[in-house]
Formats: sequence, structure tokens, C-alpha cells
Amino acid sequence: MITPGSTIGILGGGQLGRMLILAGRNLGYRFHVFEPKGSCPAGMVADLEINAAYSDKTALRKFAEGVDVITLEFENIPTEVIDMLSTIKPVLPGSRALFICQHRQREKDFLRESGLPCAPFEYADSAESLKNVVEAIGFPCVIKTAAFGYDGKGQIKLNVPEEAADCDYLWNFLENPQRVVVEKWIHHIGEFSVICARKVDGTKITFPMAENIHIHHILHASIIPARITEATQTTGAQLACEIADLLDVTGLIAVELFLEEDGSLIINEMAPRPHNSGHYSMDGCITSQFEQQIRAVANLPFGSTELVKPSVMINLLGDIWAKADDGDPDWASLLADPNVKLHLYDKGEARPGRKMGHFTVLGDEIETTLEAAEAHFDALLGV
Ligand SMILES: Nc1ncnc2c1ncn2[C@@H]1O[C@H](COP(=O)(O)OP(=O)(O)O)[C@@H](O)[C@H]1O
Ligand SMILES: [Mg+2]
Repeated sequence: MITPGSTIGILGGGQLGRMLILAGRNLGYRFHVFEPKGSCPAGMVADLEINAAYSDKTALRKFAEGVDVITLEFENIPTEVIDMLSTIKPVLPGSRALFICQHRQREKDFLRESGLPCAPFEYADSAESLKNVVEAIGFPCVIKTAAFGYDGKGQIKLNVPEEAADCDYLWNFLENPQRVVVEKWIHHIGEFSVICARKVDGTKITFPMAENIHIHHILHASIIPARITEATQTTGAQLACEIADLLDVTGLIAVELFLEEDGSLIINEMAPRPHNSGHYSMDGCITSQFEQQIRAVANLPFGSTELVKPSVMINLLGDIWAKADDGDPDWASLLADPNVKLHLYDKGEARPGRKMGHFTVLGDEIETTLEAAEAHFDALLGV
């Protein structure tokens, strides 16, 4: 057990790290953040922020020596870095989970080899091979770069064969990736996600399934409880637990799912860290995903994930700031609703598409809570 008062190291300095630290502070932990870019959202609330490149071995060693255990809020960390840090301090969720989840090819292979449900897919490693692969998968399909994609970045959806006529152009558009995954577009009737927390001894607990609404490939809203059958929610939780065990996760694993018309769930992707669709748990559950990650890596008992009230979480992207009259959204009007909980990440420049914060509305019934949340969002947008 890593006892309260110990120091937890976090790789990555974004908003997920910030919320992780804020949750861990309540339990009496201290935090050091390793993040290449300066004055990051997590660094602002940490005891120590180390800004150095992942190639800086001296800085990495100093970081590892200064903490009791290392966890992360960002999975795209070079494998060599994880291996090197692991020789000094435990790095959780663990190298297998990271190695697989940080690369779409490995992730897809893992799902297929484990017999888990996923969209049909193939790989391409050049503009020439892309053409054949796209034709084999058929239309509509989506091309995704194998490494470093998020919020729909590094993806192109192809609806008709004509859009695949110039594969050189597509390859260039994706900035000459080494590898891409081409997968069949799933005509789903909804997107959902389940987060599973797991301890080193295999103890697991899942959070209530979230129903997720995306706009332009970026998460817009999460609705909890998800408006689907109990049976589907149970299946989703079982899939998340199975993946957590197979990947030997110590920490969190978030699993994104598509629901098909016939009621089957298809796994879209996994993330071995807190997930945007789990932010509702900060206000809607007895224990948040962030606190649960701390409890998992510190090997403390889990807290209850019970949903206290129906909750709707809405993301605040930089676009909201651009619409605001004097550059600052009208927080006072939003907060005039006493059932709104606002979280801002203090990220500075509000670029379009950048995740700047979120709010959660708690209610007694999910449909009216969703209406209230969307009305608040429209008001912020000025529509
Ligand atoms: N095969 C697919 N079929 C249908 N929709 C998809 C498919 N792949 C991606 N999408 C849509 O694009 C969103 C982002 O894709 P995803 O693979 O989750 O990448 P990331 O979240 O890393 O940007 C998904 O949440 C979904 O809305
Ligand atoms: Mg995703």
C-alpha cells in the first residue's frame, strides 16, 4: 500500500492529471507532474512540475526517484520511457495495457485475437496498399492513423469509392503516417462507455455506463444512466472487466462501445486512464473515476461507484469563448442553476475544439436533466 502522505508521480500534465491530483489531495497524497510543455493544467495544482522532453533521461530519472509510484493521464508515452521508469518505480496501469492501448494496430489485434467484438479492419502502410485495403473493407469506412490520434484527429471517413480515388492525397493529408487502420463504419444506434477500475490483486469495480453524444468526432455530452436496457449495461460492464483482466490493468481502463440495432455491443477503443466520458462521476457518483484511480494505484479499498443522481455532463470547448460577448462565457447565468457543477481547467488560450472545461447537471429524472443541460449549453453558445 502506498500510504497517504506519499508522493504520486503523474506522466502528462493535462486536465485529466489536474482532476486526478485534485482528487488525490483529498486523500492526503502529494503529486509530481512530468510534462514536456510548461505551465500545464496539472502542474498548476501539483507540488512539483518537471518540464522536460521524454528523451531527457536525467530528468526522467530525477522524476522517478522523487516519487513513490508513477501513474499517468496520457497514454502516448514512448515504451522506452515506461521501461526505463519501471526499473526505478512501479509505473501503473502497467506496460502491457499501455503498449496495447497506445497504438491502434496493437489495440485492434488484441481485440481480434481475444475474440472480443470489434469493427472489421485491415492495415495499410503506404498510399498504394491503402487503396487495396479500403476496397477490401468497403464503404463507408474510416481511416485512422495507428499512433497519436485523439478527438477524431488523424481520421478520414470515406463514404463512397470516389473519395478513395486519390490515395496519395489521403496519405499526405494524414501527414504520411507509418501505418493506418482502415475499419468498417459501424451504423450504430448509440455510443456508450464503461470505465473499470482494477487493483493489482484483480479486484475490479465498474462505473455506471455512460451514453455519449459526439459532435464532429469530439465528445459533447454524457448521459447517465444510459438510456438502454439493464442487460446491455451489464454486458458493457462485463466487457470492460474482461479487458481490464486481459491487459492486467492496475488503475483505470475506459472502454468505448457502439450499440448496433440488434442489441450487440462493438468495442471501438480503449484508454488506460481517466476518460472524458467519466467526468460525470466527480459529481454524480459516490466516488469519482479520479479518486478510484488513486485508490487503485495506492492499493487502497475501492469506494462505491453508485450513481447518486441522474447526471448529464457537457464539454466546454474553446468555441464557447469565441461566442462570448467580452471573451468570457456567462458563468454567472450557468451557475444560477444550483444543480450545475462547473469545472474549468485554466488552460489559457481557448482555441476552437480545445477542451477547456465541462459542467454536470444533476437531476431527478434523466430526460428533464438532459433538457436542462442542453438549454444551458445553448445559452452559453448564445443560441
Ligand atoms: N468504425 C466507426 N464506425 C462509426 N463511427 C466511428 C467509427 N470510428 C470512429 N467513429 C466515430 O468517431 C469518433 C472518434 O473515433 P475514435 O476511434 O474513438 O477516436 P478518438 O476518440 O481517439 O479520436 C467515435 O467516437 C465515433 O463517433
Ligand atoms: Mg474515442
